[in-house]
Amino acid sequence: PTRQDSPLYPVLENAAAYYRQQLRQHAQRKRAVDYLKQRGLSGHIAKLYDIGFAPPGWNNLMGHLATNSSEEKLLIEAGLVVENPDSGKRYDRFRDRITFPIHDSRGRVIGFGGRVLGDDKPKYLNSPETPVFHKGRELYGLYEARLQNRQLEDILVVEGYMDVIALAQHGVTNAVATLGTATSEEHLKRLFRLVNSVVFCFDGDNAGRQAAWRALQSCLPVLEDGRHVRFMFLPEGHDPDSLIRQEGHDAFRARMHHQAQPLTEYLFRHLAEEAPPDSLEGKAHLATLALPLIEQVPGSLLRRLLRQSLQERTGMDLDDLRPGPTPTASTE
Ligand code: GTP
Ligand code: MN
Ligand code: MN
Ligand code: MN
Ligand code: MN
Repeated sequence: PTRQDSPLYPVLENAAAYYRQQLRQHAQRKRAVDYLKQRGLSGHIAKLYDIGFAPPGWNNLMGHLATNSSEEKLLIEAGLVVENPDSGKRYDRFRDRITFPIHDSRGRVIGFGGRVLGDDKPKYLNSPETPVFHKGRELYGLYEARLQNRQLEDILVVEGYMDVIALAQHGVTNAVATLGTATSEEHLKRLFRLVNSVVFCFDGDNAGRQAAWRALQSCLPVLEDGRHVRFMFLPEGHDPDSLIRQEGHDAFRARMHHQAQPLTEYLFRHLAEEAPPDSLEGKAHLATLALPLIEQVPGSLLRRLLRQSLQERTGMDLDDLRPGPTPTASTE
């Protein structure tokens, strides 16, 4: 079967329906509901994001959805059931977790994220790559963002499921998350087909700051003139979820509008930390770091402006900054 009519789609849809039903009916549903309430989520938002509950136990989903071995094989292919390679034993992947269905752009369920209700490890589990689920391509929450917005103006890229959902709970309905992978060029191409403006808002910790710089690097090759990328840096220890819960919608929006840095500003600020242009050596170092990045930008106007800005920062002539033929090294 092709990707379009894969038999995995109905299996994943049935799994989402099962987890949703368990959140309403399971004997331990209260634990799950209390957890969601404690995270500040309303029933309305839980429904909108189709949040569910994978009950404790090894054989719940499998027992419910599979009556023979070939149906079990489909569950394995869908990433919902795991087969132990040594013993051949099969068991539910998601156990005693809150489940977050991941939808493709058409709204079909293609995978799940699952979070423990407490502090156990691992905190999150994701579906593995399957014939219908590719982490480097999909963005969590994009389908829901489009459902909630007739016309998207800009899209906010955050790290986690709970960031997307908490933002929506507070009325910021345009957030998406990458699925435990770095932001790829493919993610960005997908976003820029929908909007001209993307704002990154990662956690205020070292991992978040590193992710921001990596995201900048993925953005460069898709920066056509007219596209805007900005970076919002959060106070240390905060993520979008904790911050909007603390300061509310209006303050968070104000932050987005006043504190988000244009990509170009972030680029030079970050490089100047590594190569402070306060000496000739520093300026040469800065140019060495900046040029290969600038040359990746396809927007010719933006590329020129970036070169010009580098020129001002280093005092070098534009012609000196154009990557020319490397002088042939003298043979010793
Ligand atoms: P909460 O505690 O629910 O608020 O999680 P968070 O989203 O703030 O988690 P964190 O900032 O630690 O991580 C960001 C994202 O990375 C998560 O939303 C997950 O997608 C992913 N992630 C975090 N921990 C794990 C893990 O243990 N395993 C996997 N596979 N992914 C994880
Ligand atoms: Mn793949
Ligand atoms: Mn983090
Ligand atoms: Mn969090
Ligand atoms: Mn976080």
